[in-house]
Amino acid sequence: MRFINPNLLPVVLLLASLCCAAPVQQLRNYDRKRAVTTTVTVKTQAQPTTTTTVKAQPMASTTTASAPAKSSAAAASATPGAPAAAAPGKPAMGPPNLLSQLTAEQAGGGVPGGPPPQTTFSANAIRNFKVANFIEGIESGFFAGALQTLNKDPTFTTPSADGKSISNVTTQIAAQELVHKATLEGLLGLAMEPTVPSCTTIFPVTDSKDYLAKANVVTSAAIGVIINILQSLSGTDPNLISPLSSILSVESQQDAFFRMSGSNTPSASPFNTGLSTTFAYNIALTYVDPRSCPQLPDLAILPSLNLTSPMVGATAPATPPTSITFTASGNLPKGNLYIGWVNQANPVAYSNVTVTNGIATADIPAGMTGIAFAALTTQTVAMTVDGLTNSTLAGPAVVLMS
Ligand SMILES: *[C@@H]1O[C@H](CO)[C@@H](O)[C@H](O)[C@H]1NC(C)=O
Ligand SMILES: *[C@@H]1O[C@H](CO)[C@@H](O)[C@H](O)[C@H]1NC(C)=O
Ligand SMILES: *[C@@H]1O[C@H](CO)[C@@H](O)[C@H](O)[C@H]1NC(C)=O
Ligand SMILES: *[C@@H]1O[C@H](CO)[C@@H](O)[C@H](O)[C@H]1NC(C)=O
Repeated sequence: MRFINPNLLPVVLLLASLCCAAPVQQLRNYDRKRAVTTTVTVKTQAQPTTTTTVKAQPMASTTTASAPAKSSAAAASATPGAPAAAAPGKPAMGPPNLLSQLTAEQAGGGVPGGPPPQTTFSANAIRNFKVANFIEGIESGFFAGALQTLNKDPTFTTPSADGKSISNVTTQIAAQELVHKATLEGLLGLAMEPTVPSCTTIFPVTDSKDYLAKANVVTSAAIGVIINILQSLSGTDPNLISPLSSILSVESQQDAFFRMSGSNTPSASPFNTGLSTTFAYNIALTYVDPRSCPQLPDLAILPSLNLTSPMVGATAPATPPTSITFTASGNLPKGNLYIGWVNQANPVAYSNVTVTNGIATADIPAGMTGIAFAALTTQTVAMTVDGLTNSTLAGPAVVLMS
C-alpha cells in the first residue's frame, strides 16, 4: 500500500473491501471514525454515472468501480456503533473508538488514518500496550481533573502574552492524551485484546503550582516508560516503533511546556530518562486511588520511598539538591542500604544510606539533571533500571534536580 497516492487510498480501500473486506475491516479497528468517513466519501464517488477509475498504482494497476449496490452495502456496514461482522478468518472488530470530533479538533488531529502499522502483535507488545493504556488513562484523567479543579484559578486561566493560558494549553494536551489513548486502544482492538478501563478517582491538584509539578512528573513517567517500551518493541514489533515514537516526542513537547510554565528551562538534559514499566506504573499509581481502577496491570506495587526533602515543586531549586532525606519506618533489612539513582541514559548510580533515629539520608551523586528517580535497595551491582527495579525495596521517589 505504501506506493499508493494517499488521495486515492479511500477509493482503493473501498475496492479492496468489495473484493475481500479485509483491509477496511482492519482499518476500522485502527480508526473507526476515519474509516467511516472515507467509505462514505467513496460511496458518493462511485455513483453509477461517475464510474471511478484509479490509475497509476504499481500494485492495483487500473481498477474500475462499477458496483454501486455493493458500495452502499459497504458504507452501511461501516455505520458507527454497528457491531463487528468479522469476515471468516479475519480479526473481529475491536471496541468502538469513542473519540469525539471536538477532541480531535482540540488535539490538532485524531487517531492516524490509513492501514494500521501491523495486524498481528507479539505478547510483548500487548503487555506493554496495556501498561501504556493504563498510564495514558491516568494522564488524561489527571489533565481533565485539573481543568475542572483550577477553572477559577487566575494563574491557570489568565492568558499569557501569546493569548493562551495554561488552561488553554492543558485543554489541548488533555485532548492529545485522549487521542494517544484511543490509538493504543485501537491497536489493542486490532489484536482482539480488551482495553484497560481507566481509574475513576484521580486525586485533585491543589493549585497551579501543584498542577505544574505533578504534570511534569506524570509526563516524565510516561516519557520514561515509552523509551523502555520502544527498546522492547524493537526486538518484537518494529513496525510499532514509528507510531510510538510520534507519541513520545509529543509527550516531550508537553513536558517542555510544563517545565517552562514552572520557570524551568524547556529541557534540562541532553537525554530523557528511561524507566521500567514497574517504576512508571508505581509513579502513575500515586495519582489515583487504586481501588477506583477496575483493572490493575500485572506489575509489582512497590512500597513507597517517603521523601521529606526535597519535595518536587513546579520550579527546580536554584541550586540542585545534594542529598535526600526520607523516613525509614518499614521493616527494612539489616545491613547496608543504598539508593540507586536513575537519570538520563546513564547506568544506575548508587549512594550510601545513613539511618539515624528513623530518618535516613543519602547523597545525590554528581551529574544528575532534570528529574532523577531514586530507589532504596541493598545492592550496588544492577546497572540498568530494570535490574534496579528487580531489587527495589521502596521507590521510586522523584527528585527534581533542575
Ligand atoms: C482559552 O480558553 C478560554 C476559556 O475556555 C476560551 O474562551 C478562549 O477562546 C481560549 N483561547 C484560545 C486562544 O484558545
Ligand atoms: C513509607 O511510609 C509508609 C506508610 O507510612 C510505610 O509503610 C513505609 O514503610 C515507608 N517507607 C520506608 C522506606 O520507610
Ligand atoms: C559507602 O560506604 C562504604 C563503606 O560502607 C564506603 O567504602 C564507600 O566509599 C561509601 N560510598 C560513598 C559514595 O560514600
Ligand atoms: C528482573 O526480573 C524478571 C523476573 O524475575 C526477570 O525476567 C528479568 O530478567 C530481571 N531483569 C533484570 C535486568 O535483572
